[in-house]
Amino acid sequence: DWTPVNIITDAVERIRAQVGERKVICGLSGGVDSSTAAMLVHRAIGDNLTCVFVDHGLLRQNEAEQVIEAFGENSEVPLIHVDSKGRFLDKLAGVTDPEAKRKIIGEEFIRTFEEEARGIEDATFLVQGTLYSDVIESGTRDAAKIKSHHNVGGLPEVMDLDLVEPLRNLFKDEVRVVAAELGMPERLVWRQPFPGPGLAIRVIGDVTAERLEILRRADAVLQEEIRAAGLYRDLWQSFAVLPAIHSVGVMGDARTYAYPVVIRAVTSDDAMTADWARLPYDLLEKISNRIINEVPGVNRVALDITSKPPGTIEWE
Ligand code: XMP
Repeated sequence: DWTPVNIITDAVERIRAQVGERKVICGLSGGVDSSTAAMLVHRAIGDNLTCVFVDHGLLRQNEAEQVIEAFGENSEVPLIHVDSKGRFLDKLAGVTDPEAKRKIIGEEFIRTFEEEARGIEDATFLVQGTLYSDVIESGTRDAAKIKSHHNVGGLPEVMDLDLVEPLRNLFKDEVRVVAAELGMPERLVWRQPFPGPGLAIRVIGDVTAERLEILRRADAVLQEEIRAAGLYRDLWQSFAVLPAIHSVGVMGDARTYAYPVVIRAVTSDDAMTADWARLPYDLLEKISNRIINEVPGVNRVALDITSKPPGTIEWE
């Protein structure tokens, strides 16, 4: 029988059976998936779990602070915070191919975890918040492969840690129900999905600190206005994309030649298909005006009106 309580009981039993008395580490991103996976494992094995939060420098504005706030001091779960910003950006320098970006980020993630795991005596398992939809999307045959989501297909072939994936049979809406049942804060339960490779796959082309900062600022304006309009929960995802082109504009008396920003907002049940969201015109107007006035380096705002299929949700 499918009830949140049964899912939790079942997951806890499976985890205990899989790992026994051994030590486990969990990569925490701050999203609902990895947080729920961590909570389930913690419930199953308590202090034999250590969480590791790798800040790869590809997060949104204030996101790292929020993760530390949620899982840091107040929580019973031990948390290690690794600041790896420079390391990821160095590896990504000059890389423009989307799948190459995913591979590099996935690889660096795992290597960082392994380094942390070495410091934890006997750590043999790694928790991943892989969902059923991730498993399907990454495919097992190359022909079925659309994107190699780094928490599945992008893993390096040689890895020292075995995987624990307590959400592997669940869809996103089921994870939210389980998260609520586990008593997680509402803001976390309802957080929109955010890809593991983060802003690296929303900064189209070259990922530089400067371009990341432009996107971060534009995205923060967008998030703020979507929340203020009361639409955050209705949307599967809403975010900004920074294409690798410039366009001409005019500001005051001066010609500008700067980046456009693309608004992407979709509704969906499971990310397998998605529809572009019909955002109100007055909201779009406010977002556009604010981004152009508040974000240096941006002189145009465009709206993505592509559903999935034929588009994917992310641009890369
Ligand atoms: P697409 O762009 O394929 O995305 O329609 C479907 C869902 O998956 C997320 N996504 C990713 N998540 N690693 C992740 O953990 C990835 O490499 C990745 N690529 C896409 C995307 O945000 C959407 O929710």
